[in-house]
Amino acid sequence: LTRGSFPKGFVFGTASAAYQYEGAVKVDGRGQTIWDTFAHTFGKITDFSNADVAVDQYHRFEEDIQLMADMGMDAYRFSIAWARILPNGVGQVNQAGIDHYNKLINALLAKGIQPYVTLYHWDLPQALEDKYNGWLDRQIVDDFAEYAETCFAAFGDRVKHWITVNEPHTVAIQGYDAGLQAPGRCSVLLHLYCKSGNSGTEPYIVAHNFILAHAAVSHAYRTKYKAAQNGELGMAFDVMWYEPMSSAAIDVEATKRAQEFQLGWFADPFFFGDYPATMRKRVGERLPRFTAEEAALVKGALDFVGINHYTTYYTRHNDTDIIVRLLNDTLADTGTISLPFKNGRAIGDRANSIWLYIVPRGMRSLMNHVKNRYNSPPIYITENGMDDSSSPFIALKDALKDTKRIKYHNDYLTNLAASIKEDGCDVRGYFAWSLLDNWEWAAGYTSRFGLYFVDYNDKLKRYPKSSVQWFKSLLSSS
Ligand code: GCO
Repeated sequence: LTRGSFPKGFVFGTASAAYQYEGAVKVDGRGQTIWDTFAHTFGKITDFSNADVAVDQYHRFEEDIQLMADMGMDAYRFSIAWARILPNGVGQVNQAGIDHYNKLINALLAKGIQPYVTLYHWDLPQALEDKYNGWLDRQIVDDFAEYAETCFAAFGDRVKHWITVNEPHTVAIQGYDAGLQAPGRCSVLLHLYCKSGNSGTEPYIVAHNFILAHAAVSHAYRTKYKAAQNGELGMAFDVMWYEPMSSAAIDVEATKRAQEFQLGWFADPFFFGDYPATMRKRVGERLPRFTAEEAALVKGALDFVGINHYTTYYTRHNDTDIIVRLLNDTLADTGTISLPFKNGRAIGDRANSIWLYIVPRGMRSLMNHVKNRYNSPPIYITENGMDDSSSPFIALKDALKDTKRIKYHNDYLTNLAASIKEDGCDVRGYFAWSLLDNWEWAAGYTSRFGLYFVDYNDKLKRYPKSSVQWFKSLLSSS
């Protein structure tokens, strides 16, 4: 695998998110966010940690940019914390927040690293949650547009790639159905452990508002900023690949359905102007509909498709499971179940996270699916990577030998290259998750996704794992 395995101009970078990296949560006028609230709620985070400090990138961005430059990275994907720009979500702009991201962007460009900026990586200003339940209310569409336009005006002269929303599907399910992520809502039945909501409808309402919010922002960008700034807007979708559990027609159908309820849920409206027919049928009245005017605004509003891809599961038909209905309404709606096992055998080697099985071929299949279903859109792999565990019993020198991670990136990238060169998929870039070990949401600091190791016991010092050298060789090859 060399640079030459990819087309000219193909972009390599690493990805991160504000709440997982920045720390400095009370610094320079940042407002509180729903993730601050969630992380500080007892019992939500595996190791009882929070991201008040995280890896302190707010203060150490220059050092971190040097680490990217050392590897020869072309780009850095990071997110802006809405509550640093608008501490109350709307209204008063916080100049210190603008200044911070200006410094970050300028420092990247000074090293020849292109900024790929996510506007929303889950850290909603708490003020908007308090005011009207955040993403559950249509008002969020206008308020998100106000925030996005503030960013275009401040940074759009230098930022040419914007990702409006990161993983709307994860937010809808984990935040409003399973209750495992902020704002931690789930079905009334489970309300002892989460905030009771209506998991039969809320995930669909929130998803609808994410789609409308992107469409509003895309419209604003194209009418007011595009001529001068000439950038592009996409979303980053979390997409697993699914393979049928058996060759029975019912499982093959289920496998298609699982994907329609995942990528189709979000991408179909942008490419076809409506949700997949299977979803409309199965979710019925609980699925919001687009008016003709909205559909026209939504359709065509993506300039590129961002894909966060990690793993592949087997899928089978499953229509009857009452337990599934109790725990996860959106999963029950799919009429499917997906597992990393078949006949007791795992689909691939497991990483540290219990959900992450290593199946490189899934990358190529997924790229072909996106190409075929959506007529060959430009794609960026906005995240791909694996984690190791964070045991205090592993010596630093052993933690730095991440041969499994090297193999992961090598094998996924090899499949990605084949999808481009052999299958004609239009993939423009690849972002490894992640530059540094960082705060992994509900898993706290127990999971290490970094190319660089962060020593949480010794001043957050960064140490290169073997994968850093591997990326360096790849990126300096021709
Ligand atoms: C996302 C992801 C990341 C995770 C990564 C590893 O929303 O983009 O959840 O933030 O850290 O996917 O699980």
